[in-house]
Amino acid sequence: MKFFIDTANLNDIAEAEALGVLDGVTTNPSLMAKEGITGAQNILNHYKKICELVTGDVSAEVIATDYNGMIQQGEELAALHSQIVVKLPMIADGIKACKYFSDKGIKTNVTLVFSAGQALLATKAGATYVSPFLGRLDDISTDGLHLIKEIRQIYDNYGFETQILSASVRNTMHVINCAKLGSDVMTGPLSSITGLLKHPLTDIGLVQFLADYKKGN
Ligand code: E4P
Repeated sequence: MKFFIDTANLNDIAEAEALGVLDGVTTNPSLMAKEGITGAQNILNHYKKICELVTGDVSAEVIATDYNGMIQQGEELAALHSQIVVKLPMIADGIKACKYFSDKGIKTNVTLVFSAGQALLATKAGATYVSPFLGRLDDISTDGLHLIKEIRQIYDNYGFETQILSASVRNTMHVINCAKLGSDVMTGPLSSITGLLKHPLTDIGLVQFLADYKKGN
């Protein structure tokens, strides 16, 4: 399973990249705003900085909600850097734009997916990635993992090649459960990746090994 980091924070991206396990980055307008990145040109510059920090795919989201606007913004984003994936909302014009970009060989990520039907439409439109929002479903007492399972089954039934990018991942158990279900990618905050490192027996064992080494030297 690929690990993407879901942030626009350059320090967090650099830290995950330095760990050597990062496969890409996802962002959204809220994550950009959280870092204080505002204004079209600043946002474009920030995407470039992210691309220079990592080697994998970087999802950059359009703001337009109409077909022509999405095409114009998506073209501009894709022209920024070869690692850019155009992120499009799961609405009718987003699906049309997805088909347009996939026909042109430009990578796409269909976002804000909350049902298996939406995921089916995204793959029919040739999406590179589909982003079901696991955590936001859990937030409203709906089993987000069940959606990942349904999409996996549907895509496997027909050999659809769209990669399931489990999004809105909030913690390490989300990561592990996504892996169990065969999600192709997960995207979450830095803590969802670094949290996987932790086990008290590892820490206790290491202290013991070092203490025993010192006794013999
Ligand atoms: C996906 O691409 C989104 O950026 C993200 O995963 C949303 O996560 P949230 O529900 O924690 O905001």
